[in-house]
Formats: sequence, C-alpha cells, structure tokens
Amino acid sequence: MCGIVGIIGKEPVAAGLVDALKRLEYRGYDSAGIATLESDGHLARRRAEGKLRNLETRLSEMPLQGTIGIGHTRWATHGAPTENNAHPHVTASVGVVHNGIIENFRELKDELKAAGAHFETETDSEVIAQLVAHLMSKGANPQDAVASALERLKGAFALVFIFEGHDRLLIGARRGSPLAVGHGDGEMFLGSDAIALSPFTNRVTYLEDGDWVVVTPDTLTIHDATGAEIERPVQTSLASALMVDKGNHRHFMLKEIYEQPEVIGHTLANYLDMSRQQPKMPEDLKFDFANLDRITITACGTAYYAGLVAKYWFEQYARIPVDIDVASEFRYRETPLKAGGLAIFISQSGETADTLASLRYCTAEKQHTLSIVNVRESTIARESEAILPTSAGPEIGVASTKAFTCQLAVLAALALEAARVRGTLSTEEINRLSRCLIEVPRQTSVALHAENAIEVIAKDLAKASDVLYLGRGLSFPLALEGALKLKEISYIHAEGYAAGELKHGPIALIDEQTPVVVVAPSDRLFEKTVSNMQEVAARGGRIILITDGEGADMAGDYAAEVVTMPKVDPFVQPLIYAIPVQLLAYHTAVVMGTDVDQPRNLAKSVTVE
Ligand code: M6R
Repeated sequence: MCGIVGIIGKEPVAAGLVDALKRLEYRGYDSAGIATLESDGHLARRRAEGKLRNLETRLSEMPLQGTIGIGHTRWATHGAPTENNAHPHVTASVGVVHNGIIENFRELKDELKAAGAHFETETDSEVIAQLVAHLMSKGANPQDAVASALERLKGAFALVFIFEGHDRLLIGARRGSPLAVGHGDGEMFLGSDAIALSPFTNRVTYLEDGDWVVVTPDTLTIHDATGAEIERPVQTSLASALMVDKGNHRHFMLKEIYEQPEVIGHTLANYLDMSRQQPKMPEDLKFDFANLDRITITACGTAYYAGLVAKYWFEQYARIPVDIDVASEFRYRETPLKAGGLAIFISQSGETADTLASLRYCTAEKQHTLSIVNVRESTIARESEAILPTSAGPEIGVASTKAFTCQLAVLAALALEAARVRGTLSTEEINRLSRCLIEVPRQTSVALHAENAIEVIAKDLAKASDVLYLGRGLSFPLALEGALKLKEISYIHAEGYAAGELKHGPIALIDEQTPVVVVAPSDRLFEKTVSNMQEVAARGGRIILITDGEGADMAGDYAAEVVTMPKVDPFVQPLIYAIPVQLLAYHTAVVMGTDVDQPRNLAKSVTVE
C-alpha cells in the first residue's frame, strides 16, 4: 500500500525522495508526489498520476531545490488515483504524507469546513493537513499541533509532516502502519520500511505502534502513545546489504522464482538439524505440542494457502486438528478459543492489517502466538510471543513466490517437530521425511527446468478468459494458489477447486474454451483425480496436467499438455508443485503484457482493511 518518506538533508532532497519512493514501488501505487520546503520558505510540491517516471518528468520540467522534503506513493482508497488526490497534501503552513485510512475523516472534514477550511481533494488524508494547519492557526507550534491532531484521528496511519518556516524539522507518527527512522550524519530520514531508507543509511530505529517522533538533522525525540518521551534502539538494518535489483531477470517475480532453491535451503537450515535428520526449533518456544489439542491458523492470500497446506501436514503427520481461516473473517468471527492453545499467523510482510488484528484477538484470548514472517522487524513479529522467520530475503514482486515456499519450508519442519514431540511418527519416519525436506532445494532446481515447456503452454493459456485449477489433498491448496497467481498478474479469471468438488457445480463451466489446470502428482489420490480428468475430457475440456513422470505415463493421454515434475514424496509435493504454477502465471502475464511486478490495483502489503 502507500509508501511514505521524509528527508532532512544537507543537499537538495528531491532526487533522494524519488530514489526512496522507487524502493517502495513494490508495495503497489497508482500516483506519487513529493513536497519540499524551498529557499523562499514556501512549501512546493510536484505530483503525477501513474508511475514514478511521470513524477520524474514533472520534476525535470519544474525542479525542486529544498533540502527538506516528504514523498509518497499512493494506493488509492478514498478518491480516484488522480494528480489532484495525490499526496503530499499541503496547506499554507503544513504538508503531510499518509499511509493508512482515517476512519473519522467525514466528521473532521465537516468540523473543519465549518471553521472555514477549504478542501481540494476527495481523500481522507487531506483532513490531517487541514487539522494540523487549523491548530497552528490557533497558535500551536508544530509539535503541539501534531500531538493534539493525533488525539483526534481514528484509524490506521503512518504520517510524515513538514512545516512552512521550519526548514530543519520533520514530525512522524505511526498507528497501525509501519514507520522507521534512518540515522545519517547530520541528516535524518523517515520511511515506511528499511528498504526505503537503504540508499541513505543502515542505522534504523523502528517506531512502535502509537509512537510519534520529532526529527531534526541531529536529534530524534520519540513519544509513545501516552505522550511520554521514550528511547527506542538503533538497529543495523540488512536491507542495504540485500540485493534489491532484478539481476539478469526481466522481472523481480522471475528472479524471485529462481531464488527459491537457495532461499528454501537457507530457511530449512534454520529449522532442520541436517546431520541428525530431524527438525530443530528455537528453544524459547513456550508451547508444548504434546499437550495441544488444537491449532488455529490465520493468514491472508497466498500466506493463507501456505497455512492450508500446513493443516494437511499437522493433521496427517502430527494428528493435531487445525482450524484455519482467512484473517479478515477470523478477526470478527469471535471464535471461542481455549486458553493456552496455539495460534499461528503467517505473513510475508508482517504488516497485513487483518492478520495483525487476528493476532491481537488471539493474544487477548490467551493463546500462545507464533508467527511465520519474512520481515523480522514487522509489527506482527514484534507483537507475537514467538516468531519463526523465513529467510526469503526482500520479496519485491507483488505476487508472492519465494515467501510462499519458504513459509511452507518452516511449516513442514514445524509439523515434523509436532509429530516428533507427540510420537505420532517413528524416529525412522521423522528422519526419512527430514531427508525429503533436505532434498527440496535440489528438487526445486529440477522443477525450474520445466520453464521452457511452460512458456509454450502460456502462449495458449493467455487466450483464455477463464481457467479452472483442480487438485486433491495437498494439491488442493496449490490449485487455489495457482488460480490466485494467474488472476493477480495476468488478469485472467481463474478459480481453484478441490477436484472432488467438480461434480458439485464447477463442471458446468467446462467447455472447449476453458482450460483446466490439474495439479496431480502420482500419489494415493492420483487415480481419483484421473477420474475427474476423464470427466473434463469427456466434455471437451482442455487439460494442462502438472504431474511427475509416473503420472504422465498413466494419464498423459487425457491431457492436451503435460508439465513434468520430479517424483517426490507426497510430504514435500507442495514445495515442488508451487514452481510450475508460479511459472505458468508468470509467462501468461508476460504474453498478456501486464505489469508483472506491480499488477493493477494490488498492493504488496495490505495495511488497511
Ligand atoms: O504480507 P502477507 O503475507 O501478510 O500478505 C498476504 C497477502 O496479501 C499476499 O499473500 C497476497 O495474496 C499476494 N499478493 C499473493 O501473491
């Protein structure tokens, strides 16, 4: 979602603001803008619809020279993605950039209008600038005006303010949306994440929820939610050391697909004892798998599908019942939870608003909370009792790929650990399944060899307007994930179904125009899926079968196209079969000519409801 940045520099900051905004592009946006305080003491801004290159063109025509400024990439919530609605929002005395939603903006707008304020946009965010300007017009200084305004705002936000006449002052605030401070040498930076700050510094202070901060070139004064001054640690961020370029790949998504053998390996190394061939978990996990009678898993989107795979693993191998729900439903379902239960949250960004709200619900219900996150400094990571981080590295493509398989790697090791502690699998079986996991990085490399064949299939798939994905057992979540991937980056309508559900409705959709992607490794459920394939073939449906060599021999004749995967143990199938569904969506999107890394309407990290 929106990305925000602020810089107090020694030189003109416009180029630095745009550079930081480029690093926030991955979050998704549809307009952008910056404002600086110019040498004549006035706030000046440049804004543009669409991509940052439009803003750069605007800046090359009308440069800004200020040495203090704020910037924003906007993902529209209230009001169309027009230049007029783009941030920063400025009044005569204050400029602001905002990530989040102000829930009580109508009430505030009415009140401010009655007091004489003139609004120019359809956004909720403009009320923040108007409110602070109003308070300053009554005599408040910038700090007091912001502090009072924060008390009036309801909703989720990260904010950065700049003030006319104050060329060495930025104020930031966070409630619900992340904000970090970067420490320079006589310069200071504010940004939505450490990646935005990485061109300038690796010394970062992460603000806690409710904090607001007064920043000058050399000082940082943080106030907590009660207004009290508080110290927060300066941490060394790895973001600048990590590769955030595309390398030789055309898109971040393809680069990230190809990183999977390596990052799955790194992730597994943290949770598997390779020499003893068994899972290894951090010692501070406070729950006891032996005495658990239920696990609750909550996540959104692709992370939810990782959780769905884990449900099969925990139930089949560790014999623990699992409740799983999408976080947007779970958070309001008021599900009763027995104190002392285990609640697992899965989130690449660690900032997803619904997942965070679900975590807070479970904390209040006295659950042990365990989060699988890729961003260790995230809010979900910080608010969880324990975390099992993935080692996927920064995921820039909006479509989640390597984060998904790394989440699966952690969950597979965790399910094995649960089985070990509960004694539901023998030591030999734990060792065997651990060896299967150890083999996954190599097997995913082999799976990537299918790219050329998939590229050819994608040319045809791109002609479809609807696509069905079918799978059974552990392949069912993969069918859902494949359909989601295709939808989000190619904009082709796709649905995933449990293959056994076909006759309960979706079969009515089968015709010559509707390709059916069947994810079916040759496992104990294979023959049942083959029956479903026959039903599709009998109705003229065109099947793209993703299977292994054995499966291809047994059922390849029913399929128009076959993508062959290495033969692997059923336990690790989801990690391998993720690769072809990702590649199929990727190449279809390339044929369609869509914006693969930043698909329309999507945000990388969904920090509002
Ligand atoms: O950061 P999170 O893992 O919490 O994000 C959850 C979903 O928003 C995310 O997986 C989304 O569905 C992806 N765009 C899917 O590719």
